[in-house]
Amino acid sequence: MESLILAIDQGTSSTKALLINTAGEVVARASAPVSQRHPAPGLAEQDAGELLGSVRDAVAACLRGFDAQAVAGIGLSTQRESVVLWDAATGRPVAPLISWQDQRGAVRAAELVDKGYGDLVRRRTGLPLDPMFSALKMAALLDRHDPARERSKRGELRLGTVDAWLLTSLTGGFVTEIGNASRTQLLDLGTGDWDEELLEIFGVPRAALGRVVPSTGPFGEAGDLAPLPAGVPVLAVLGDSHAALFAHAGWRPGVVKATYGTGSSVMTVAGTCGSAGAVCDTIAWSTGRPTFAQEANIRSSGRTLTWLADLLGISMDVLVDLAADADAGGVTLVPAFGGLGAPWWDSRAVPVLAGFDFGTGRAQLARAALESVAHQVDDVLAAMPAVDRVFADGGLTRSGALMQLQADLSVVEVARPRHHELSAAGVADLAGLGLGLWTTGDLEERADTGLEVFTPAWSDERRGAALARWHEGLRTARELGG
Ligand code: G3P
Repeated sequence: MESLILAIDQGTSSTKALLINTAGEVVARASAPVSQRHPAPGLAEQDAGELLGSVRDAVAACLRGFDAQAVAGIGLSTQRESVVLWDAATGRPVAPLISWQDQRGAVRAAELVDKGYGDLVRRRTGLPLDPMFSALKMAALLDRHDPARERSKRGELRLGTVDAWLLTSLTGGFVTEIGNASRTQLLDLGTGDWDEELLEIFGVPRAALGRVVPSTGPFGEAGDLAPLPAGVPVLAVLGDSHAALFAHAGWRPGVVKATYGTGSSVMTVAGTCGSAGAVCDTIAWSTGRPTFAQEANIRSSGRTLTWLADLLGISMDVLVDLAADADAGGVTLVPAFGGLGAPWWDSRAVPVLAGFDFGTGRAQLARAALESVAHQVDDVLAAMPAVDRVFADGGLTRSGALMQLQADLSVVEVARPRHHELSAAGVADLAGLGLGLWTTGDLEERADTGLEVFTPAWSDERRGAALARWHEGLRTARELGG
């Protein structure tokens, strides 16, 4: 019986499960949606139990018609920065998950910056002191549910990113994968462990956090994931963005990837940690020794399109089709929902819709939304050392119009792989390396095969005009936000 790898990608909008054979081919796929709530402006929550249920549903649907005994191991990639608080004794969440998109820590972040902690946090964790990262979400959960930190200090309440939550639910262990941990703002990139001073500053007791482990574990075995038999090992865990980079064989210097998901992430490996400015330092993965990466995060890309599709009462597919053939007709949309991420890191910026008139219709709005995705990625690319080619992934890459727009705006080649589920593929790649199913050379060949390449076609004038309009909109978004 041929061995199969089960890859699970738990994201903000859905959980995907893929079955991958020893040739690296996807032989089955399934997905289960997950909901998000926005109880007040700036807040974004999910139900941690629903996330776990979606993993079970996606896995069960994916394995339908297959012999579950053939699954040799599991790879898990997860949305990052989002935080779950659960009761150690019952294993049940005690509050809604606070999503990476949630801005409730903005005021506290500004206070800590005013107190002069920004540099320390940046130096030690590689991240700007921004409410997108986990630490302030953890603090907010504890302030509400354990203000004196008594239960969390005793280890009765546990905090974790989504990897830690799913692992504890599936294996019973309490660990956090190092790449995910590097997104909490509590990890010292130098030591690869929780940092006492940062734990103190953010008010998060160490006893509430899981042990930090490499991306290859040990993670234990899944005990309760029907129809899998008990005891299938979890072989690899990665943050979703990191997993996508791995799938592009992104350990090769010079490979830059852009993920077009709910938000966007532009990422490339770096020899050591220690960049400055617009991009963050992060741990991409570790198989014993950490591989560092530089990453720029954009808060709203696909999320802008789903918001607009809902508002217009049309499906995402219809919106993307409308945008493909339209001209924005002078409309600019700056989707600073919850502020702007890289390269601006401006939590105060507000969304702006400008340049519309009575002739503006759905198609122009759809196009402006699509353009906002490419512009935001372009702003990040402009802040990085020169790039010739960007490897794209994520659900929005199905829009050829977006891929072409990115090439035109950023004057880069954009390479689109055969399928877009690269987070699941990447974590399966790492799991399969552990099983000896393939080598890194095989993975490099796989990453470079079947790419569709979009090349820049715009004149300098056309590009200059598009950039000028976008930057005007950006200025307005930042000025109005104060
Ligand atoms: O940093 C947040 C990111 O990991 C979420 O990814 O794929 O759910 O948009 P996604």
